Amino acid sequence: GEVRREHWATKIGLILAMAGNAVGLGNFIRFPAKAAAYGGGAYLIPYFLALVLLGIPIMFVEWTLGRHGGLHGHGHLAPMMYIVSKKKLSPKSAATFAIIGGAVAFVTGVMITGYYTNIIGWMGYYSVASLTGQFSGLKTADDAGAFFVNFLTNPALSLTAWLISLFIMISIVSRGVRRGIEIAAKIMMPTLFIEGIILVVLSLTLGAPIKPEWSSLRGFEWLWTPKLEKLSNPATFIEGAGQIFFTLSIGIAGIIPNYASYLRREEDLPLSALTTTSLNEFAEVVMGASIAIPLAYAFGGPDFIALVEAGKISGFGVAISALPPLFGRLGAVGAIGGFLWFSLLWFAGVTSAIALINVLITIFVEDFKLNRVRGALIAFIIIFITGVFVNIEAAMKTQQLTDYLDLADFYAGSLLLLVVALFEVVAALWLWGVDDSYEELHRGAYMTVPKWYWKYVTGIISPLYLLILLGWFIYTAFLKGEVVAAARPDNVFGWIGVAMIIIMFIVGLIINYKALKNRYPQELG
Ligand code: PHE
Ligand code: NA
Repeated sequence: GEVRREHWATKIGLILAMAGNAVGLGNFIRFPAKAAAYGGGAYLIPYFLALVLLGIPIMFVEWTLGRHGGLHGHGHLAPMMYIVSKKKLSPKSAATFAIIGGAVAFVTGVMITGYYTNIIGWMGYYSVASLTGQFSGLKTADDAGAFFVNFLTNPALSLTAWLISLFIMISIVSRGVRRGIEIAAKIMMPTLFIEGIILVVLSLTLGAPIKPEWSSLRGFEWLWTPKLEKLSNPATFIEGAGQIFFTLSIGIAGIIPNYASYLRREEDLPLSALTTTSLNEFAEVVMGASIAIPLAYAFGGPDFIALVEAGKISGFGVAISALPPLFGRLGAVGAIGGFLWFSLLWFAGVTSAIALINVLITIFVEDFKLNRVRGALIAFIIIFITGVFVNIEAAMKTQQLTDYLDLADFYAGSLLLLVVALFEVVAALWLWGVDDSYEELHRGAYMTVPKWYWKYVTGIISPLYLLILLGWFIYTAFLKGEVVAAARPDNVFGWIGVAMIIIMFIVGLIINYKALKNRYPQELG
């Protein structure tokens, strides 16, 4: 490639950045609530099944596409898929395939960045609120809910919180991969792990501050008690797989391939990918499961937990309606505990979102020859456009407050990422070819992935699994309708969400088309 690209300065920096990319709000909020709702200990069966049949294979695919793309000067999915798809397709067909897949990836990226950076801003506000004693007045989950609504519907607070966090994130990314992203990961990831361990200890030794029978340890025990009957519900398997995707950041905007594109030619892929996956699983199954649910049990006992089990209270609901009033009752320890909890979520979110932002900047810097500051400005404008409707809706105090966010989360955060992953598997295994992609995965590798795993699990089982998931989503969301309410817009902000997704898809098509033309003028002229 003509473009000289940056490389990660250190191995530990690369691993921490990749782990930071994966470890996010999903580990601490989404996973425990899904486990609570779908069988507790039994949830681990569909969860780890999806990890082995879907998560790890697609992780390998993304690292392989990414490093290979990077060697050709590419940091985002469309050109990465284009150069490998050409092995079987004509340049025109390869470009069409890559532009469409890349545009879906673009949609997932910009839609998720819009609301995810907003939520990060909320977490920032909440960590300050805890330290300044604002939780001490909250007695019940309803108090905490009202506290949240007051915050969210007040743009002076929520818009400001978003813009401050967004400014910090964009500043990190504009400094580049080594000087920005890698340094941030080296500071934030150890901090996050230390905070997590303190919170786990706090949560498991807290006892029963509210009612003698509501000890946090009982909540922990409750969570892991396997409820095997849930395994007969197909939703348990779908949710296990959905969580694997979300938590590993696979299929989302090509952020793992983007980080992998800064690897050197001979650098190990499989062991590094497994290491970052393991760090994410540790932060999820060990740390994530030991904080929110035990604390929610200590706060509200079996009745509260039953609502989480029934899916009536989401993971986010637990994080903001059970934990603040609990911390509020614990005096100084609570103020610090609340700060640790929300700043952990802030760090977890920031180290994921900077990957999303970097993909956007990469497109403009590498394929449109803008400098990094200009690229960052354009990225900011796009994120502002996709994110600001979260604030406008809240400020207008609609019934739900979050129709736009929920719709964006459903389409970008649950559905379209499956489509992106399908494109990636087809590109790497079918168009590039089993042998060539296998060889690329192993250049400089510290370990060998069994060939049968690559050929059959990655090449055949994972795309079939993806198709089943997609079919189930389409069936429940559009034919049955009642399961995924967020999929159907029922107010103007839901429709704005739909319009935004369509507009961003078209923008993604145009950008990827131009990007490929700029980079491959002869072939595509
Ligand atoms: N992996 C993140 C989590 O577990 C989710 C995420 C994916 C965030 C992609 C940003 C981008 O929370
Ligand atoms: Na994660």
